[in-house]
Amino acid sequence: MPLARSIVSAALLGSSVARALPHEPRHTESPDVQVSCPSTPDGAGPELLDAFVSYSVELAFWPDFGGNLSHPNTFSNNLLDNLGELQGTKPHIRVGGNTQDYAIYDPDLPTATKGIVVPSRSPDYPYYLTIGPSFFESYQTFPSVKYAHGFNLAKNGSAARRSLVESAKVACKVLGEDDRFLLWELGNEPDLYKTSAQGIKRPADWDEEDYVREWKDGTAAIRDAIAEACPEMASDARYKYMAPSFAGTSNSLDPNEVWADGLDGRRDIAWISQHNYIDGATQPGVTLQGTLMNHTRTASSVTPLVSLARNLSAAHPALPFVLGETNSLYNQGAPGLSDSFGAALWGLDFRLHSAARGVAAVHMHQGTGYRYAAWQPVATATGRRRTRAPYYGDAAAAAMVGARARGPARVRELAAAERAVAYAAYEGAGLARLMAISLDAYNGTGAAAEAAARPAATFALGLPEGCAREARVARLMAGGSDAVAGVTWDGVSFDWELDEGRPVVVGNATRDERVAVGEDGVMVLEVPHSSAAMVRVDC
Ligand SMILES: *[C@@H]1O[C@H](CO)[C@@H](O)[C@H](O)[C@H]1NC(C)=O
Ligand SMILES: *[C@@H]1O[C@H](CO)[C@@H](O)[C@H](O)[C@H]1NC(C)=O
Ligand SMILES: *[C@@H]1O[C@H](CO)[C@@H](O)[C@H](O)[C@H]1NC(C)=O
Ligand SMILES: *[C@@H]1O[C@H](CO)[C@@H](O)[C@H](O)[C@H]1NC(C)=O
Ligand SMILES: *[C@@H]1O[C@H](CO)[C@@H](O)[C@H](O)[C@H]1NC(C)=O
Ligand SMILES: *[C@@H]1O[C@H](CO)[C@@H](O)[C@H](O)[C@H]1NC(C)=O
Repeated sequence: MPLARSIVSAALLGSSVARALPHEPRHTESPDVQVSCPSTPDGAGPELLDAFVSYSVELAFWPDFGGNLSHPNTFSNNLLDNLGELQGTKPHIRVGGNTQDYAIYDPDLPTATKGIVVPSRSPDYPYYLTIGPSFFESYQTFPSVKYAHGFNLAKNGSAARRSLVESAKVACKVLGEDDRFLLWELGNEPDLYKTSAQGIKRPADWDEEDYVREWKDGTAAIRDAIAEACPEMASDARYKYMAPSFAGTSNSLDPNEVWADGLDGRRDIAWISQHNYIDGATQPGVTLQGTLMNHTRTASSVTPLVSLARNLSAAHPALPFVLGETNSLYNQGAPGLSDSFGAALWGLDFRLHSAARGVAAVHMHQGTGYRYAAWQPVATATGRRRTRAPYYGDAAAAAMVGARARGPARVRELAAAERAVAYAAYEGAGLARLMAISLDAYNGTGAAAEAAARPAATFALGLPEGCAREARVARLMAGGSDAVAGVTWDGVSFDWELDEGRPVVVGNATRDERVAVGEDGVMVLEVPHSSAAMVRVDC
């Protein structure tokens, strides 16, 4: 555990004090983290997809997030634009989740959706769901965003199958225009169909071969429908899926086996997609410090995915491995944990660790009223419209992978203690940025905060030869790990209340801070507990 250092506290939050930060390197006797950073990306994670920072949106709530043609959700679009500025490409959106496997298309439904919540199944989203033609308007509201649309595999009776085929004809028309189409998906987490607490969908003897046969039958029927309605979307080059979208690597279907059984026999899969949650919202023992602000926990959750990605890469070297749906705690997150600034730090660490270990894109799952959501797109009984703390972790991750002016992005993990992590990001052949994250919980409210200054962790980061002697620092900051508001990235707020999600420089957070690089090539960075600092180096 990093040493507590009572140095900065409010200093790093006040711009006037920030200017007084040491410009000469401080040669601390014992930094909490001391690493040197290789000059080339050899041995770093693989090249990331352009939209590495991406989202998944629960299908039933997609009209809330996207709005429709007469009422586009410009707040959502502003938040996506911010990330597009930072990473060079707006996030992709996969529209799916449990409700994808409940949705039945009704061409006569006058509204976008009609849902019935069954609290014993889930209080957070409808168990019965019908979608109408205007549902697809929500795909037409954001400029320059690509989508993966999720079809229903779980409901497989003849009426559901007719509805599937009809919905494909509508979806392909909308997604075929304006370069909106990314991929299709058929079925959400079919490895839970036999066991799900939200309802059993297949008999106990349903196995990998049955799944592969159903998936191939379903995708063949969808292709026929698309060939009829949108022939240009049915070509080998464009007719592509993300699959198998399993919840895990060791549930009731083995992902290794479905690929071995020929899931991609028709070569219509573009991305290997898996889902992941590091723990559950109501699981005993889940805490901010012990679970989300715990790099060891995050890494152990990612380890099986890395193993699976390696297993599949031999037979499918051209297919990127992505997390098509993921977030902190399954069952839509827990208040006080998933909605806090600590969860923003978790999201940053999770995305970068995944990148360093072979995950090419990470789609954080969203829904209206979800405790882990990055923003609440509309006001409902579940809360007012607002930017939520986790969004700021997404912004920091987008800045870290960068706009890639000099080439593809790759990420390397430099140091990985339980509560102090450092990463390097490369653009093309060169080192571009470093990120230091302190995962020591610091409560910004309460007696403890008033009594003591905020401690900091010290990172001594050795740069390769030839880097400039000064670098610019951008901080991910809030009052404490328990904060659910007042978060900034690089001195900027994206809060709804300030300018509807557009960036606003706020006076009380640091911006344009510089850090010096010593004669020995070492840069010493103080990172207040429960915050992160990114350094743009010039190497
Ligand atoms: C579009 O959205 C507005 C606001 O939510 C809603 O009132 C309207 O009914 C929607 N239009 C359609 C065609 O669904
Ligand atoms: C639908 O699922 C059942 C199991 O619940 C399975 O026996 C049947 O073969 C499936 N139908 C199709 C068309 O795949
Ligand atoms: C952090 O996670 C690891 C792995 O799950 C666990 O062994 C350790 O106890 C956790 N730390 C805390 C403080 O709970
Ligand atoms: C990868 O393959 C090895 C060897 O077959 C197996 O033991 C391991 O469980 C696989 N990993 C995953 C996550 O399925
Ligand atoms: C912060 O507050 C929570 C809840 O009151 C408590 O469990 C935790 O120990 C506190 N953490 C620190 C670092 O003071
Ligand atoms: C900074 O100012 C914003 C409003 O401009 C406020 O919401 C936030 O809490 C302040 N942050 C800190 C750390 O004082």
